[in-house]
Amino acid sequence: MINGENKISRPLRWGMVGGGRTGQVGYKHRTGALRDKTYDLVAGAFDIDAERGRDFGVNLGVDSNRCYPDFQTMFAEEANLNEGIEVVSIATPNGTHYEITMAALHAGLHVICEKPLVFTTKEAVEIKQLAEEKGLIVGVTYGFSGNIMLLQMRAMIEQGKIGDIHLVDLQYTHGYAATGDGDKKNAAQKWRVDPKIAGPSFVLGDLSTHTYYMSQLIMPEMKIKKLLCDRQSFVGSRYPLEDNAYVLMHYENGAVGRMWTSAVDAGCMDGQRIRIVGSKASLEWWDSKPNELRYELQGEPIQTLVRGTEYLDDLTSEYERLGTLHQEGLSDAWANIYLRIAIAIDAKKRGDEEILDKLIYPDIDAGIAGVQWIENCVRSADNGSVWVEYETEESVHA
Ligand code: NAI
Repeated sequence: MINGENKISRPLRWGMVGGGRTGQVGYKHRTGALRDKTYDLVAGAFDIDAERGRDFGVNLGVDSNRCYPDFQTMFAEEANLNEGIEVVSIATPNGTHYEITMAALHAGLHVICEKPLVFTTKEAVEIKQLAEEKGLIVGVTYGFSGNIMLLQMRAMIEQGKIGDIHLVDLQYTHGYAATGDGDKKNAAQKWRVDPKIAGPSFVLGDLSTHTYYMSQLIMPEMKIKKLLCDRQSFVGSRYPLEDNAYVLMHYENGAVGRMWTSAVDAGCMDGQRIRIVGSKASLEWWDSKPNELRYELQGEPIQTLVRGTEYLDDLTSEYERLGTLHQEGLSDAWANIYLRIAIAIDAKKRGDEEILDKLIYPDIDAGIAGVQWIENCVRSADNGSVWVEYETEESVHA
């Protein structure tokens, strides 16, 4: 149960790159980070427009001397302070993540970076190596994954409550880019369909990396053996980036799965869903009803498990915040992710490997896995939507 008591000895001195006044995701970072007294926002290079960034930072309550025109100046100046920042969040478009993350690690800062972490596995592995060399944490903000009923799914699957996993049905779709209008008008949508800034994919990276990570969180033992991805650009100007994709997966244990990801699911306001079908029962979770989990045991009435109740697993209850009868949502999920990353950073500083070993949070490996997911999907799609063996860093070097 989280009740506001300190989880680490003092708040971490925290800076942000991006997430400025016009940014979509910046407030989610702040709402997550500032909840549990684990971070103090003391510096920022919040915006590509330096003046707007300074004005915004001051309005957030950051000292104007610590609102910097760019991340390079922030890392250099903060390093000269006795109490400069220790951790930085990166909430900028995808194409900037690699450079900013590497610069932050070189400056000795822990990093919390947006997804998709970078464009290639090679870059992601370089980040991991540098972080290890420097003894620093890299967390990745798969924000939805902080919904605690996902931990309930993990616990129930581990306890054999659904039997052997046979089918994995994943979906993250919406209709907000059903037409190309926003590609010209909306700054955040414009870069998402530009391969130089978005990377090798649109919806596979933008949406499905979340759901893919959540599936791994729920079923850590399930490894994809091969996949087939079929991707389309229904708004033609987006080509080669897809606005819709279907992926079929075969897992090493014989299970099969599918992922549907789309930004052209017109009219859809509610498109993130995870259904895991086992040999004796199924579990299903919808992002729009995050407090509930359906447990469907073959031959028995369907059960709805509800957040905050005492029959849930300890793994779930550890991050319970509001108690039963009240709804938690996305900002609680973000707070959980930020809290766990703070605990990881604190443990790293103290050399507490025991905590680090058991803490479940989206770490650098989760960041690498997201990049590999995109790479495998794109490799399949661009070779004519064929089955490809699922490549990971280990499988390539095996
Ligand atoms: P956006 O375009 O709305 O905002 C980007 C922000 O970064 C703006 O404030 C811009 O001024 C600033 N910026 C750009 N380049 C900068 C630089 N070099 N230095 C300092 N500031 C800079 O983009 P949005 O939608 O907020 O996405 C940002 C990142 O967050 C992307 O990687 C995206 O994939 C990810 N994202 C993640 C979500 C999640 O649920 N975890 C949700 C939405 C976006």
